[in-house]
Amino acid sequence: MARLERGWVLWRIRRWAAGCSPGTVVLGAAGGIGQPLSLLLKTNPAITELALFDIVNTPGVAADLSHIATPAKVVGRLPPNDGLKETLTGAEVVVIPAGVPRKPGLRDDLFKINAGIVKDLATGIATVAPKAFVLVISNPVNSTVPIVAEVFKKHGVYDPKRIFGVTTLDVVRASTFVAEIIGKPGSAPDVVVPVIGGHSGVTSSHPLPDSIAKDTFDALVKRIQFGGDEVVKAKDGAGSATLSMAYAGFEFANKVIRAIKGEKGIVAPSFVALKADPAGAEALTKELGAELEFFSSNVELGPEGVVKIHPLGKITQGETELVKAAVPELLTNIKTGTTYVLEKY
Ligand code: NAI
Repeated sequence: MARLERGWVLWRIRRWAAGCSPGTVVLGAAGGIGQPLSLLLKTNPAITELALFDIVNTPGVAADLSHIATPAKVVGRLPPNDGLKETLTGAEVVVIPAGVPRKPGLRDDLFKINAGIVKDLATGIATVAPKAFVLVISNPVNSTVPIVAEVFKKHGVYDPKRIFGVTTLDVVRASTFVAEIIGKPGSAPDVVVPVIGGHSGVTSSHPLPDSIAKDTFDALVKRIQFGGDEVVKAKDGAGSATLSMAYAGFEFANKVIRAIKGEKGIVAPSFVALKADPAGAEALTKELGAELEFFSSNVELGPEGVVKIHPLGKITQGETELVKAAVPELLTNIKTGTTYVLEKY
């Protein structure tokens, strides 16, 4: 084990022995997702250090949250005076909801703005906290995750096991909508529908219970894949899903934190690099009949990140077709992210 690596492992063991939780960071913490996500993280008694960064308002958000009597010590920082560097020092879990949300008519611009933001933040993480687990919420996830990966490669610190696209909102929505249809509204936590493929639109697919009738199935698939549009439309130009996304981001971050602390058998769908588990990748590639660098599937998490990427397993013919249909767009999304970074360096 290299000296730096050994030092990092020892540092982590010492921190856990002292009762510290993985240092958790939110980048974009003052935003529509960032604030409720930070609030939820503050309520988690397992978190003892919560560092918030944004280009605006983080001192206020941190001061507000610090009045809640839970263990997490909260600090809020802004860009001047190395704010990002200080925020990331000692970080073990970094959640990124920074960026502009979807608005009607904003598509290419959204990519350019968010790609730039994610690239800069990833550069900060690669420099200051290269061992951190990076949880990417900023859209388009199918492209922003490859951006983080490329930046880490450029800095020579890429570990595919530690970079995650947060696709949990698709899971939360799918589970809620299915629970409604099978007559168990409110029981979504018991009705878990994983997400496979990518995040949102036709790139995401969901193995659904056999009991759902064919006519209901098609409408349901569409509602799950384009669930975000319902919120964007209802918010009427004021942004996209924030509260349900904060809940979903919190769920996923908690799973990562539990896995880092040594809990076994934690599985969550996430958009990850298939290199993170070559054996899992081989099985998935066979099932897909296509080679992809990133894919969303059930992922087993451990203290060092991805342990295993699960295969698609038994899915219906209809779902197989949905997954196959997702592949060309996924390939394009991934290339868009990768090319963006390659052209910038
Ligand atoms: P928002 O505009 O309310 O908040 C974004 C925050 O990022 C703002 O506070 C802004 O100041 C901050 N920010 C901008 N540049 C930054 C930088 N360089 N460093 C740090 N902070 C920076 O947007 P909202 O609604 O919170 O959405 C954030 C992102 O999450 C968007 O990209 C959106 O598309 C995405 N999203 C992802 C979902 C998913 O399922 N993965 C679901 C919903 C939204």
